[in-house]
Amino acid sequence: MQTPKYDQISAQYADLLRWGLENSWTHFAITVHILLEIAADLKDLRVCDLGCGEGHLARSLAQHGAIVTGVDLSTKMLALAKARSAEISNLDYVNDDAQSLKKLGKASFDLVISNLAFMDIPDLNQTYQAVQRILKPGGRFIFSILHPCFEAPFQIPESQVETDTEGNFVACRVIRYTEEGYWNSGGDGIRGAVGAYHRKISTYINGLLDNGFRLQQLHEPTLPPGNYKTPDKQWLSKVPKTLIVDSYKP
Ligand SMILES: C[S@@+](CC[C@H](N)C(=O)[O-])C[C@H]1O[C@@H](n2cnc3c(N)ncnc32)[C@H](O)[C@@H]1O
Repeated sequence: MQTPKYDQISAQYADLLRWGLENSWTHFAITVHILLEIAADLKDLRVCDLGCGEGHLARSLAQHGAIVTGVDLSTKMLALAKARSAEISNLDYVNDDAQSLKKLGKASFDLVISNLAFMDIPDLNQTYQAVQRILKPGGRFIFSILHPCFEAPFQIPESQVETDTEGNFVACRVIRYTEEGYWNSGGDGIRGAVGAYHRKISTYINGLLDNGFRLQQLHEPTLPPGNYKTPDKQWLSKVPKTLIVDSYKP
């Protein structure tokens, strides 16, 4: 049984997320924007938000007319989600493991969507299988992850970002991309607290195809080109931090 690590950092993650969503230039905000754009017409669709955390995406989906079930392993994250969703009738939450989804019925969803959760889940193959089971034929499976090519592990203690003498972004380092598995960057951020599972992009995509999904599109959210003043924004205008996979069950 996987430990619900976000129980320990639910408030810290929720604070980071709030900051991210309030600042339209962050990878949190631009990724969610594209996820909702791709999901498009949600009216009356049965939607599962996998690894829903404090439920911001589930709430947006419900506000767009979907009938939403948010699923998370962490009861602390779900407690935040429930407290923030009290007024919304077409939204409920289930405490379950994405690797089995035992509490969800076969072929019960039109769309399974997941934002930035798969790096926290040890067994990708089991997760793909569980999603296959709960999706209706023709149903869509859309997920975002930290971009496996540019957010590869072991970049710390060396800074991941290289800047020039004026502090402008020059490059981001990617080290040991080929080494799949669990890693922890250290530090006092989220990934220092819970670590992450790194997988190559081929592992994500080939696993999806091997489990019977068809790939529709990939998206790599970045900021539009511009004269950005801070290295964070310069970085995100040149290199995507997230990858969105849009697929379906035939
Ligand atoms: C980085 S957070 C993302 C939360 C949310 N999707 C968002 O957009 O803020 C990852 C979430 O995945 C959840 N999670 C990790 N492993 C899980 C599993 N096996 N099954 C369900 N949820 C899981 C964590 O509890 C956490 O809430």
